[in-house]
Amino acid sequence: MSPGKVLVTGGAGFIGSHVCEAYLVHGWDVTALDNLDSGRAANLPRDVRLIEMDVRDESVRRVFRDGGFDIVNHHAAQVDVRASVSRPRHDASVNIDGLLNLIECAREFGLARFIFISSGGALYGETADLPIPRTAPKRPVSPYGISKLASEYYLRAFGQLSDLEYVSLRYANVYGPRQDPRGEAGVVSIFARRILDGETLLVFGDGEQTRDFVFVRDVAAANILATSAELKAGGEFDDVAFNVGTGEQTSINTLADAMIEIAGREVRIAREPARPGDPMHNCLDCAETRALGWAPAHSLKAGLRETWDFMVREAA
Ligand SMILES: NC(=O)c1ccc[n+]([C@@H]2O[C@H](COP(=O)([O-])OP(=O)(O)OC[C@H]3O[C@@H](n4cnc5c(N)ncnc54)[C@H](O)[C@@H]3O)[C@@H](O)[C@H]2O)c1
Repeated sequence: MSPGKVLVTGGAGFIGSHVCEAYLVHGWDVTALDNLDSGRAANLPRDVRLIEMDVRDESVRRVFRDGGFDIVNHHAAQVDVRASVSRPRHDASVNIDGLLNLIECAREFGLARFIFISSGGALYGETADLPIPRTAPKRPVSPYGISKLASEYYLRAFGQLSDLEYVSLRYANVYGPRQDPRGEAGVVSIFARRILDGETLLVFGDGEQTRDFVFVRDVAAANILATSAELKAGGEFDDVAFNVGTGEQTSINTLADAMIEIAGREVRIAREPARPGDPMHNCLDCAETRALGWAPAHSLKAGLRETWDFMVREAA
């Protein structure tokens, strides 16, 4: 697809802002729609238009009517897994009602493609089948995971009922510059913040639980590919879903050691009881994403170094 006009919801957030940047670099005209719940206008490059609005708002229709967008890239979400457990109706309101509002607009104004951001961590749940292929059984254990899975089903249904073309990207654990260390997830930015502040790193359980850490600019690159990839529509549920991770497992202990080495500081580590509901291992098999021509370009060490340097600069 040649560059046109893209609407990035959640564009002022951590990942969305990098996705906006990537679209700009590829010659797209970029508009971000964000209610600045956790995002910040300052995250956005100057050439990105920001519309401060909730994805559930009726006025979103007017934004589509006037915007002339070719595609919508939907990053806005209630992203907090624990909050989805304590406030499941709020989670569903933002993540399901918001999605449906956008789907209605995308259909009415005939957008060429709907890119939906899903979660490999929340969708598959605990499994021994590692790295997890996209066809693995879906066993979400949180309302957040359920809302992501339900969203994929809504898109599939509207893809079949109308000619809405869509693709889902199932992210692993994304990290990098601009991730908010105040969130409950984002262990890399939380550790970096604590190291900067001279605080103890808290490791839950024995620290041998593993995650698949993927650098945010590699994730942005996957969005650019998904924008123009030829899709096998009308097939199986998982045919238009792409895992976005490295396929490598890194334990929290290894991550902590690597970050302490990069920072070059004395850091204490304290153990806390394991958090119930946290999967022991998560790591994504990205064979189909790689077949599109995508591969993570940043090693964990390089990505952590860049994240650390960013946070040091921000703190200065
Ligand atoms: N960070 C990860 O590791 C990870 C992993 C899997 C999936 N995801 C998904 O990636 C997307 C981006 O997450 P992130 O980590 O950048 O988080 P983030 O909180 O930085 O970004 C979410 C953005 O959505 C905006 N937003 C929230 N509710 C909104 C609403 N009702 N209307 C309009 N805007 C709203 C926020 O202000 C924020 O800018 C989300 O869909 C999330 O579920 C993230």
